Amino acid sequence: MYNVKSYSEIIRLRELEVIDSDVVVVGSGLAGLRAAIEAARTGGERLKVSVVTKTQPMRSHSVSAEGGTAAVLYPEEGDSFASHEWDTVKGSDFLADQDAVELFVREAPKEIIQLEHWGMPWARREDGRIAQRFFGGQSYPRACFAEDRVGFFEMSTLYSTCLKHDNITFYDEWFAFSVVKDNGHFAGFIALDIKRGDVALFRAKAGIIATGGAGRLYPFASFGHSSTPDGIVMAYRAGVPLKDMEFVQFHPTGLVPSGILITEASRGEGGVLRNSKGERFMERYAPKMKDLAPRDIVSRSILTEIKEGRGFRDEESGYEYVNLDLTVIDHEKLIKRLTSIREICLKLRGIDPLSEPVPIRPVAHYYMGGIDVDINGATALPGLWAAGEAACVTMNGANRLGSNSTTECLVWGKITGREAAKYALAHSEPDPPAESIVAEERRLFDILMGPAPSVDPYQVKSDLQNIMEQHFHAFRNEQSMEEGLRKLRRLKSEFRLGVVDKSRTYNTNLVNVLEVESMLEASEVIAAAALKRTESRGAHFRTDYPRRDDDAWLKHILVRRTADGFEFDYKPVIITKYMPAERVY
Ligand code: FUM
Repeated sequence: MYNVKSYSEIIRLRELEVIDSDVVVVGSGLAGLRAAIEAARTGGERLKVSVVTKTQPMRSHSVSAEGGTAAVLYPEEGDSFASHEWDTVKGSDFLADQDAVELFVREAPKEIIQLEHWGMPWARREDGRIAQRFFGGQSYPRACFAEDRVGFFEMSTLYSTCLKHDNITFYDEWFAFSVVKDNGHFAGFIALDIKRGDVALFRAKAGIIATGGAGRLYPFASFGHSSTPDGIVMAYRAGVPLKDMEFVQFHPTGLVPSGILITEASRGEGGVLRNSKGERFMERYAPKMKDLAPRDIVSRSILTEIKEGRGFRDEESGYEYVNLDLTVIDHEKLIKRLTSIREICLKLRGIDPLSEPVPIRPVAHYYMGGIDVDINGATALPGLWAAGEAACVTMNGANRLGSNSTTECLVWGKITGREAAKYALAHSEPDPPAESIVAEERRLFDILMGPAPSVDPYQVKSDLQNIMEQHFHAFRNEQSMEEGLRKLRRLKSEFRLGVVDKSRTYNTNLVNVLEVESMLEASEVIAAAALKRTESRGAHFRTDYPRRDDDAWLKHILVRRTADGFEFDYKPVIITKYMPAERVY
């Protein structure tokens, strides 16, 4: 036996497991799987791809995407690239980088067809071609769909395609928690095998972070419970800045009281919002697009109706809400195209939307911000890319349009997979210094071996979510945000990394503690950036600065981690065609 006092010393005395590949993808949602396929295709037999995922691929949050994937398919029938570009830029409140939007719009149809060729069962029109439906802020029905289970079918299609590639290996239930560097270049990730409790270095020439957005920082959220900002914060700790983090999207229709998403396709298919007086109130806020205005506008309108006393109150949860009326949709259409929505309402609320209104309120759904990347998804760290919601390209600016994000995952999954593979083929194997790896490994095992925490991490998580809900929701102001940031910082300073469960196998306590650590980090960045931006734009609405201020704020805020906190930096918005204009719907 070793004569040692701590687990970390044991770990130092034995060799660390090293798993070698050329490209390692962290995350197995739409962006991660699409990236893995493209890397495997680009490199062929010469290239080994690993996918490291803390869940199992078909349990990734992308599976829960419901309503649609946007692309221009039928220009001959009136839709156009220019229209999709304009809708996206206007929806973003002119903060989107327009070169990225142009690329996105042009690549989108190719991804729809590519998925079709891999077996995606897109819904069909009478003429047999791919069907499309309306989504908020899109001036043409351009969301391709498969019932209201788009994420499930897209994920099944991509996962089964991955399994056909011998050069892709899945590492399910591995929690990646650190980026390893070699001479200022990406060299791999350190990950915990949740099943066995062992730590390994996934050494690779190129890496792609596709771990999704910052996730469940709010108590009323449409995200799966595994959606936390681990991947984003892993890049942030490695010195890569985060961008546009102040912009948090509240989807208008989260089912009360669970927060389960009621897809925007419900309104795309004809559903309408009604207040307690039965009024179709969106007619007042967005006379032209009404219930299908962009999400930031619809969510604020709902909250205004509630604030002005025209909402309802759910006695059990205390949540205030308005109704989504789906009874106006043709019954056969509702049953066929909104199958899951009806099932969710029946099973979780005992409500049949064919005949009863659905209680909804705005729900935390998406983060426009994320890891700062260029138009090809490359981060500032050579060899590291990011794709999907984890990344901020930025094509979503201050407010993403519904049905653009699954497309974004596909488009930048493909681009980053291709770019990472090309990079890996051109570079030699990294040889990262042992010290940084041992230090990270020791950090983990010291958490495991150290004292149980004096502060309950699950309470910290719940407190954090309540602070975000109270101080950083859809309406914000300086005084409240200052107070919220103070509370977050107190929570962070009192938090101690430690676990009650000391076991090695399936120690979800250990994983949860690391997740809370990343949540504290990400929420502080959101709070600080939200305070910094003294204007209202898209999803970031400040009651103390209710107007958009293009002179001062037509730029992205970057937050970079430093030894004693963080610093701000800025990037201009890339404008190619569309000058900022008043945003009316
Ligand atoms: O409402 C929805 O189905 C969500 C779609 C999206 O966020 O793009």
